[in-house]
Amino acid sequence: MSGRENFAGAVGAVMAMAGSAIGLGNIWRFPYMAGQNGGAAFIIIYLLCVVFLSLPIMLSETIIGRSSHSNAFGAMEKIAPGTGWKWMGLLTVISPLIILSFYSVVGGWSIGFAVKSLYPGFDNSVSSVFGEFSSSAWKPLICHTIFLLVTAVVVKAGIRNGIEKFNKYSLPLLFVLIVLIAVYSLSLPGSEEGVKYLVKPDFSQVTSKTVAYAMGQSFFSLSLGVGTILTYSSYIKKDTDILKASASTAAFDMLFALIAGFAVMPAVFAAGIEPGAGPGLIFETLPFIFVKMSAISPVLSHIVAVLFFLSIVIAALTSSISMYEVGTAYLVEEKHMSRNKAVAVIFAFTWILGILCSLSLGPLSGLKIAGLCVFDFCDVLTSNYLMTFGALLYVVFVGWKMKRQTVWEDFTNGGRQDINVKVFKPLYFLIRYVAPIVVILIFLSNLTL
Ligand code: PHE
Repeated sequence: MSGRENFAGAVGAVMAMAGSAIGLGNIWRFPYMAGQNGGAAFIIIYLLCVVFLSLPIMLSETIIGRSSHSNAFGAMEKIAPGTGWKWMGLLTVISPLIILSFYSVVGGWSIGFAVKSLYPGFDNSVSSVFGEFSSSAWKPLICHTIFLLVTAVVVKAGIRNGIEKFNKYSLPLLFVLIVLIAVYSLSLPGSEEGVKYLVKPDFSQVTSKTVAYAMGQSFFSLSLGVGTILTYSSYIKKDTDILKASASTAAFDMLFALIAGFAVMPAVFAAGIEPGAGPGLIFETLPFIFVKMSAISPVLSHIVAVLFFLSIVIAALTSSISMYEVGTAYLVEEKHMSRNKAVAVIFAFTWILGILCSLSLGPLSGLKIAGLCVFDFCDVLTSNYLMTFGALLYVVFVGWKMKRQTVWEDFTNGGRQDINVKVFKPLYFLIRYVAPIVVILIFLSNLTL
């Protein structure tokens, strides 16, 4: 498309992709998933999943996006015109919007908690703070609205001036914040147990479920199967090395998840709290820790609490922006809307669905879909089914539908990247055979979880 924007360079592209990958998945989901599934053993399996499964999938998405320079729907039509693949592409335009809806609610909680932790009374009422806050009617709605509005403003500003710029400044800040929190957490008395938990594997707890969860977590954390990496890759220039870009993204994401683990787990053990506390871990557990700390220094406990929730907000924003862009690019390029109008349409959809998700944890808890409240339904539908299905779709498309020569051209930049020429064969094998088989097996096992 003429006049289509792109990222200024390889660094901008990696920052944006890493921004998409690093998010609530790393700070909120990773520590509690590791906590519930055997600590270090889960982490080792997770790392193997990232390298042998998620990286080939990520490359597939990158190849589709970069070689077509199109949105998630248009890319399929451009590469395989007149086939049903575009409808599969459309599915991956819709799924990130569903994720964005509940993601924005959790992003909103983080804003709410960052503000709450400024107040002196924050540490007295902790035990019920999270439940009260997330199930109340209007407070989380206001926070969800603010979170979504900030996302919309960045996306509206465009690829270079909005998305690239935001990621360029916020990602380094995020790393600094999380390292500071980890250092603080590690300095707490009793934190050694948490470190042990993260580095000493206990394989006796590992089951096939652990592997399924580790794979699901790596898909979620790397933003796979829902068109975000595809859409961002469509803004990557032709001469950028996509293996380097994808591998760096995965490496940053893993590094961040590990540091977040060291920020959360030592504090959890220092406070003597059960590591498998589940999704409420960082919202319910950490405030307890801040209370404990306030016995030592109330001011410090407030500062750490604010910084911690602020870092969650930033991490969530860099991800929500990428989800928002998938739908925006689709509406602009396929429905010929102006960028402003497209941003407004996406806002309306995700704002309303987000309101339903939020209310479903409180006043609307009686409204059930397949036995689940709206929030949980959207989460399970996307994390367990749509993401896995989308990931399968992308590897099958690259491995079986696209011509090998086209894939080779794109992967090696026309044979100009020496290392990529060398690793093409094994990676293509992973994309064509290993990834689809493993993803299908896990998909089936998800049905029985
Ligand atoms: N990867 C993001 C995280 O770790 C979540 C995400 C999922 C972002 C799907 C975009 C698309 O929080």
